[in-house]
Amino acid sequence: MLIRRETPADIPAIRAVTAAAFRGAAHSAPPVEPGGDPGEATLVGWLRDDPGWIPELSLVATDAGAVVGHVVCTRGMLGETPALGLGPLSVSPERQGAGIGSALMHAVLGAADALSEPVVVLVGEPAFYGRFGFVPADGLGITAPDPQWGAYFQARPLTAHRPDLRGTFRYAAPFDRL
Ligand SMILES: CC(C)(COP(=O)(O)OP(=O)(O)OC[C@H]1O[C@@H](n2cnc3c(N)ncnc32)[C@H](O)[C@@H]1OP(=O)(O)O)[C@@H](O)C(=O)NCCC(=O)NCCS
Repeated sequence: MLIRRETPADIPAIRAVTAAAFRGAAHSAPPVEPGGDPGEATLVGWLRDDPGWIPELSLVATDAGAVVGHVVCTRGMLGETPALGLGPLSVSPERQGAGIGSALMHAVLGAADALSEPVVVLVGEPAFYGRFGFVPADGLGITAPDPQWGAYFQARPLTAHRPDLRGTFRYAAPFDRL
C-alpha cells in the first residue's frame, strides 16, 4: 500500500470509495444527488471546488495502483484563525480493518504538521480517533458549530498549536450544504 497526494486521475475512484465506505456506515449523510450516493461522496467534490481545498492534504491510499482509501483536510476557521477540518475519511469496505484508515490518518496529520497548521478538528468516534491524539475539543477551548456533537467533536493539536487558540470552529462552506 502507498499513500500519496491525489491526482486528477484519482477523482472518480475517490468518489467511488467514499460512496461505498459511507453506504455501509452506521450514520452517513443523506444523498443530495440523483443516483443515491451518500452525501459524503458529493461533499468531496464540492470541497474540491471550494476555496477551502488544500491540495497537499487530499491523500489517497493505493494498492496495485487502485485507490482503496482517501482522506482530506480542508480550511476552516477557529474564530479569526485558520485551522483544519478533517473528513471525509473513507476506506473501501472490503479493505477495512487492515490498517489503511490509520495509515491515512497518520499521513495527513504529519502533512498538516509539516505545513505548520495549528490544529485539526473532526466529528467521529472518540474510540477510534483518540489513538491519533484527538481529544474532546471543548477541553482545548474549541467549540463545535453544533453543540449537539458533544464528545464526538474532537481536536488534535499540532506543533504550531497555542493555548490561546480558542473559539468556535467553522468548517469550509460546503459542509453547510449537506
Ligand atoms: C473509519 C474507517 C475509515 C477506518 O478505516 P480502517 O482502514 O478500517 O481502519 P484501521 O484498520 O486503520 O483501524 C481499524 C480500527 O478502527 C476501529 N474502528 C473503525 N471504525 C470505528 C468506529 N466507527 N468506531 C470505533 N472504532 C472504529 C476498528 O474497530 C479497529 O480497531 P482495532 O485496531 O482496535 O481493532 C473505515 O472503517 C471507513 O471507511 N468507515 C466508513 C466511513 C466512516 O465512517 N468514516 C469515518 C467518519 S468521517
